[in-house]
Amino acid sequence: MSKILLTGGAGYIGSHTAIEMLNAGYEIIVADNFSNSSKESLRRVEKITGKTIPFYQADITDKEQTEKIFEENDIAAVIHFAGLKSVGESVSCPVRYYKNNLLSSLNLLEVMEKHHVKKLVFSSSATVYGNPDHVPFDETMPVGVCTNPYGWTKQMSEQIFQDACVADKDLTVILLRYFNPVGAHESGTIGEAPNGTPNNLMPYISQVAVGTLKQLSVYGSDYPTHDGTGVRDYIHVVDLAKGHLAAIRYAETHTGTEIFNLGTGCGYSVLDMVKAFEKVNGVSVPYRIADRRPGDIASAYADPAKARDILGWQAEKTLEDMCRDTWKWQRQNPNGYNA
Ligand code: NAD
Ligand code: UD1
Repeated sequence: MSKILLTGGAGYIGSHTAIEMLNAGYEIIVADNFSNSSKESLRRVEKITGKTIPFYQADITDKEQTEKIFEENDIAAVIHFAGLKSVGESVSCPVRYYKNNLLSSLNLLEVMEKHHVKKLVFSSSATVYGNPDHVPFDETMPVGVCTNPYGWTKQMSEQIFQDACVADKDLTVILLRYFNPVGAHESGTIGEAPNGTPNNLMPYISQVAVGTLKQLSVYGSDYPTHDGTGVRDYIHVVDLAKGHLAAIRYAETHTGTEIFNLGTGCGYSVLDMVKAFEKVNGVSVPYRIADRRPGDIASAYADPAKARDILGWQAEKTLEDMCRDTWKWQRQNPNGYNA
């Protein structure tokens, strides 16, 4: 039986997607260099699903290592999660980010072509929209000016994949623009395990709640939003994972490039998130108002209609689910995957 290759499949979104793919009856292989993850996440996915996951410790920027995976397996499609994702780090180490994120995309295309693999789903980001003058963001809007190298790697990869599709009429590329993934599997055994102090809001809130961090800095209270704090489209990672399953099913019967937002269509402010987390979990999240974070925008949320209409997918989980599942994972694993 042919298999679905998940590059970066040991990471936060990849591990949750692995569960959905396995539960839907797909055979998967994971390729990861574990630069931002550990084998422990895969062991836990195996425990949750009762299935064994073949994996390669491989760097997708290394052509030989990538080739080996395609030589040894009959691969029907690739979901390309592998990438570096820290915005701040991309500003201080741009070359590392461009090299890792672009070379992996280019290598994959070459190796896929050689082995006649024609289906690719790519992890892109709402960051490619830049700072448009209105919300919600829909897929017909032009991509904007990114504020950091990480964002450019996503925009450039999107362009590379679209150009490859123009040249090869048999190729299918689905570009998934994620909004703000949060939450964890309901078991609380897999979740987001950021290295060092988190940059993103939800892991920061949960580390304050568990006592690892003292207080949250709310970056800006003078945005033109309902309470002055930044508004985002937070999406439960299990919903997001199911979006990949829908994308793979769509890719099986279509060719060409399609772009889909994966978001809920709801915008919540920073203070909405703090209050919801406190209420749902019965914990306290001390915060202070701080200056705006450079590069941030006031409001970003998806128009999710295209994914609903074409993929038949929409987010189902609530803000309560996001807060509850984040907290369950955080409480059970205060040090992430490090026991
Ligand atoms: P993650 O860091 O948890 O997962 C990425 C995985 O890729 C890690 O396991 C890492 O070890 C692996 N990896 C990195 N470079 C590699 C390489 N050269 N070869 C092999 N493996 C490599 O991140 P995530 O949150 O699961 O994100 C997955 C993808 O989605 C990334 O491409 C990310 O940029 C994108 N994305 C994430 C978010 C988010 O908020 N989490 C938002 C938009 C887009
Ligand atoms: C950030 C990245 C974006 C990336 C996305 C998902 C920047 C400028 N953008 O987006 O490229 O695709 O993460 O990984 O970093 N906030 C606080 N205090 C905190 C942390 C965040 O107030 O300690 C606020 C932010 O100002 C923002 C909201 O919370 O309004 C969400 O922030 P975050 O989780 O970092 O996501 P994005 O800013 O949407």
